[in-house]
Amino acid sequence: MTATAPAGGLALDPDRNLALELVRATEAAAISSARFVGRGDKNRVDQAAVDAMRPVLGSVGMSGVVVIGEGEKDAAPMLFNGEQVGNGSDPEVDIAVDPVDGTTAAAKGLPDAIAVVGLSERGTMFDPGPCVYMHKLVVPTQAADSVDPEAPVADILSAVARAVGKQPADLTVAVLDRPRHTDLMAEIRATGAAVRSLLDGDVAGAIAVGQPDSGVDLLMGVGGTPEGVIAACALRCSEGAMFGRLQPRDEEERRAALDFGHDLDRILTTTDLVSGGDVFFAATGVTGGALLPGVRFQPASVVTWSLSMRSRSGAIRLIQTRHDRSRSNLISH
Ligand code: FBP
Repeated sequence: MTATAPAGGLALDPDRNLALELVRATEAAAISSARFVGRGDKNRVDQAAVDAMRPVLGSVGMSGVVVIGEGEKDAAPMLFNGEQVGNGSDPEVDIAVDPVDGTTAAAKGLPDAIAVVGLSERGTMFDPGPCVYMHKLVVPTQAADSVDPEAPVADILSAVARAVGKQPADLTVAVLDRPRHTDLMAEIRATGAAVRSLLDGDVAGAIAVGQPDSGVDLLMGVGGTPEGVIAACALRCSEGAMFGRLQPRDEEERRAALDFGHDLDRILTTTDLVSGGDVFFAATGVTGGALLPGVRFQPASVVTWSLSMRSRSGAIRLIQTRHDRSRSNLISH
């Protein structure tokens, strides 16, 4: 039977929305890692998530290559770069994955830990090479054209405030709570704006900028480059724009980045980080935060909250799932 489009243009042959399939992988990772929330061992959090996520990703109909696998920074368990995932069928895709972003937060029982996967057409994700960290600025979409990412902090906040119809003092800026951000936080506070300190996990902070009612207006500061690409997948599907600049940790990494072909002065936009025309993203809360509630264990079920997003259709789903403890194959018994 041939699909036809009725008046009004509604297509009758919708293709697969891979983000809906990816949600099962982030749910599995979140449920398994949530067992270790507050138990003080970040590697067990990560290992549980990786072990649960890998087989579910393996069952998805795709030929995926992990372009962004997290873990090099601290030798944590990981889905490694170059690993093949999926069942080997079409489509051919790049995968950006962090089974738990915010492992330390999860181990300490603190907010903003999420399980995340991004996906786009093969060859469309930025490869950070040796660059572990980047400067990040995430602003609301309305400010994307008027903000100068290299301007002083006060000017950036004024531009964003103007674009969204607020005063700088009405803005809340998410910043990773690190000694390297002491001056940045002081500059933000000097404008009257509030800092929302992230103890860990800037992916949730970046995505929150694009979500209405998250209470986060911007994200600023230096964080992981892999996490930047993952957040860019989400921002391609929703509101919010990222600007990044690679930030080598030392002279050796600077040289390696130049040898790799990176321009260290280049401002990378959301589309530079993920250029595909059909980007998919899924995240599930591990511990509750600005973006999503965390996993809840109940007597007969486990409840999760996830986001599923796709750039091409603009579909953003908030999915609450009740997993039956005796029947769900996403729960390790
Ligand atoms: P992982 O939990 O995946 O290790 O990353 C946590 C994280 O806070 C990221 O969200 C952030 O981009 C990066 O680490 C910051 O690095 P650092 O903790 O070294 O400042």
